Parts: sequence; C-alpha cells; structure tokens
Amino acid sequence: MKVISTIKELQSTLKNLHQSPVGFVPTMGALHKGHLSLVNAATSQCPLVVVSIYVNPTQFNNKEDLRKYPRPLKKDLSLLGKVLRNNDIVFTPDDKEMYPAEDKRIFRFGNLDNIMEALHRPGHFNGVTQIVSRFFEIIRPDLAFFGQKDFQQVAVIKELVRQNRYKVKIAVNPIIREPDGLAMSSRNALLEPSVRKNAPVIHKAIYTASVMLEGKDIPEIRDYVRKTIEKKAGFSVEYFEIVDDKKLVPVSSKKQMKKGNSYYGCIAVRAGKIRLIDNIEFQLV
Ligand code: PAJ
Repeated sequence: MKVISTIKELQSTLKNLHQSPVGFVPTMGALHKGHLSLVNAATSQCPLVVVSIYVNPTQFNNKEDLRKYPRPLKKDLSLLGKVLRNNDIVFTPDDKEMYPAEDKRIFRFGNLDNIMEALHRPGHFNGVTQIVSRFFEIIRPDLAFFGQKDFQQVAVIKELVRQNRYKVKIAVNPIIREPDGLAMSSRNALLEPSVRKNAPVIHKAIYTASVMLEGKDIPEIRDYVRKTIEKKAGFSVEYFEIVDDKKLVPVSSKKQMKKGNSYYGCIAVRAGKIRLIDNIEFQLV
C-alpha cells in the first residue's frame, strides 16, 4: 500500500493507476475490526481502494473529545498493511491540507437535522458533511463504504449524495461487535474498566427491546431500555428512539409502524465520561 498525505500526490497517483471502480473508506483512525470489515468489503469489490485516516476537527462539538480522540497511526498503518494490496492507498492528510481556509459551508438535511445525534451534537453532521464532501470531490470514488453503527450518519451521507448528485454509490456494512455484544468503537478504549465491564448492557437492552415489540407497545419498551441501562452506575441514556430507516421519523406507538418497512432502535448513552451509540433493527411480526 502507499501512504500519501497531500491532495496533489493523491490525485496524480489515482490518475496514473487509472483503475475502476475506486472504493473509498473514510475513517478517523484508531482502527478496529469494524473499520477493517469496511476495508475488506471495499477490496473485495474494488481493484483500487483509498482508506483515509483523518480526525476531522469540524465534526467535534466538544473540544475535550477532539483532544482525547486516540491517534495510534503506526498501529493503524500496520493493520491496514495486512488487508490492503500494493496499489491501494492510505490517505493521511493534516488540517492544513483539508482546511486551507475555514469551511463556512452549511448543509441542511430537513428532518435529519432535528433528531437524535443532530440534537445532541449540534454542528456534528455539518462537520461530517464538510469533510466527506471534500473527500468525495478529491477522490471521486465509485463506491464509498460506511458502517451501520453510525445509522444517522449513513442517512445524512445518502442525502448529501442526493442533493449534490455525486456519482458515488453508498455501501452500508453491519455493526461489528465485541464478543460480549458491545459495538466496536474507537472510543471503547477510553472507557474506565468498571464502565467497560457494564457496557454490554446497552446492546443487551436494545436487543431485548426489539424482542419485546411482539407483546408490548413502544412507551413501555422505551421505559424498559432507559431503566435497565440506568441501573448501572455511571450510565445515563441521552436518547432512545425507534425510527424508520428512510426519513428517520420516530414512532411513538406500534400503530404507526407498517409491516414490511424497516425500523431501527437508536440509542446514545453516557457511560462514565464517554458517549456511546448503538442501534438494532425492530421488526413488526
Ligand atoms: P469513524 O468513527 O472512524 O468510523 C469510520 C467508519 O467505520 C464509519 O462508517 C463507521 O460507521 C464505521 N464503523 C465504526 N465502528 C463500526 C463497527 N463497530 N462496525 C461497523 N462499522 C463501524 O465515522 C467516522 O469515522 C467519521 O464521521 C468519518 C465518516 C470518517 C468522517 O470524518
């Protein structure tokens, strides 16, 4: 693999290699098996893959979170060395390269701006779309790979592609979990041991909730999720919503759900000092 950190070199390399389809996997590094599953999906479908590693400052609404974000670049490159091929590219730009001037663009995504992550992390998705649109315009990938872990991010990126008529196809890959059920995340490494021990309660609670849908209605299910998680010391639920997978409109009763449509229960939890998100499909049977 080639490690490239300037846009100029990246674009001339892509031009010389002249392969298609080009696959793109954007990441902020601190790579784990969730990221690597996206990279493997990309290499299985694309003769040329670009993986970016860039901790994008504009999507952090909390300075402390940005400062603490893990940046184990050497380890990341060694992990990628095992799954990427000779021609594949790791793009590791710095802030000057990605933001030579302040990015003042404001993106609007309708209902997606008014729920869940958008409410609790103001400006987050604007930052995500600033950087992802920059990457799309620089790399011009045919396929871009995202994780279902960031459910609302996928919806926002699909809307970004639609609004800007980008020619990229968005591929979505399932959530990769630790053996105890905790969704893999770069932030898991920051959990204190006692909090880490209790963190599987998040997946357990939303999984049980998805099974409860057979006999119970949504207010009771939401209550169950909040109470179960908040029994653990240091855990508090920021939100838990069951939304459809297209417009992400929350449903407050089973009567609003249609058989055959897809719904996801999406949660954000404060676990000690760290914020974790997860989601799971809710199926009306
Ligand atoms: P990051 O959190 O590094 O995630 C990069 C990609 O890996 C995202 O598409 C995310 O959904 C996926 N991912 C993370 N954990 C996963 C898991 N357990 N299973 C499957 N996929 C997982 O998301 C971002 O970075 C940034 O917002 C980015 C898109 C790079 C823009 O800066």
